[in-house]
Amino acid sequence: MSNISSFSPIEQSMRVIGIETSCDETGIAVYDSELGLMSDLLYSQIDLHAEYGGVVPELASRDHIRKTLPMIDQALKESGSARADIDAIAYTAGPGLVGALLVGASIAKSLAFAWNVPAIGVHHMEGHLLAPMLGDEKPAYPFLALLVSGGHTQLMLCRDLGDYQLLGESVDDAAGEAFDKVAKMLGLGYPGGPAIQKLAASGNPERFRFPRPMTDRPGFDFSFSGLKTFTMNTLKAIEAPEMQDKADIALAFQTAVADTIRIKCKRAFEQTGLRSLIVAGGVSANTEIRRTLDELAARSRARIYYPPLKLCTDNGAMIAYAGLQQLQRGYQEDSPIIVRPRWPMTELGS
Ligand code: KG4
Ligand code: ZN
Repeated sequence: MSNISSFSPIEQSMRVIGIETSCDETGIAVYDSELGLMSDLLYSQIDLHAEYGGVVPELASRDHIRKTLPMIDQALKESGSARADIDAIAYTAGPGLVGALLVGASIAKSLAFAWNVPAIGVHHMEGHLLAPMLGDEKPAYPFLALLVSGGHTQLMLCRDLGDYQLLGESVDDAAGEAFDKVAKMLGLGYPGGPAIQKLAASGNPERFRFPRPMTDRPGFDFSFSGLKTFTMNTLKAIEAPEMQDKADIALAFQTAVADTIRIKCKRAFEQTGLRSLIVAGGVSANTEIRRTLDELAARSRARIYYPPLKLCTDNGAMIAYAGLQQLQRGYQEDSPIIVRPRWPMTELGS
């Protein structure tokens, strides 16, 4: 037995590498339980996929293969970490594109085997959920979480790490997916969210009012597909639309998404009695959604916790942080390489 085993794992400082390769971003980070985020590298494949108007899975996998190891090297250097300083390697095990996930998982497992440390498979959305903890203020459990990304729109009740109850989710398109599709129809680039936000800034708020789907029904589910069709029909009804028309449409769409989200979050405050809400995932970078939710929070005497802007979209830091939480709770590694392209977060505790 080594001397190390006489220390409780919780008292020791721990350092984790995070590897995120679930979609079109290679994110590598080093997070230390005492020193915080020591390196956070991001390589975006956006240019690679832009000409196709969306992510091409096979191209994504190949690019992750090219980038992941050199970026791990760089992150170790940047954080001044020797291999012996690393206590675990956390990687995104799902949900996401299966080929892209397999790249991160195989590299994480191989390195972990070579360095004799655990490899920790992290749920991508749990990574997003915990990203606000990388900011200055952290909510205490229990709290509500709104996860809005390219693949998910979920409202959850979080009782503890790994103990999540799904209150409602999108029955069709995720919020980010709707942003991306509407951007495409308006002839804007990929990813659509930032492009719509930019164009909407010059929109006329008086011109259109788009529906707030499923807000007249009880419950917490979302549906953005009808809103997308409504947006398309509005565009089609305009002969030779000009940039101002598109800006007015972008604004009406963005306002409708923000207001729909506000109505569901208000309902969640009322029905659960909770007053802390985490808002995370790529769409949480949207300034109009943040403004709308901040207004709601002020009126409801609630607190909203967002990730630092840079950590709203995919990144390695959130994976390293989520991995560290598991390590500190005595995570035991399972040996096979398993990735889960589909993975309900409510299965995490079981
Ligand atoms: O969380 P994320 O980086 O990847 C997934 O896990 O899906 O989210 C990407 C999504 C894309 O759909 C993108 O259009 C959207 O987040 N997004 C935004 C903004 N920035 C990124 N949507 C609205 N406003 C933004 N500023
Ligand atoms: Zn994501």
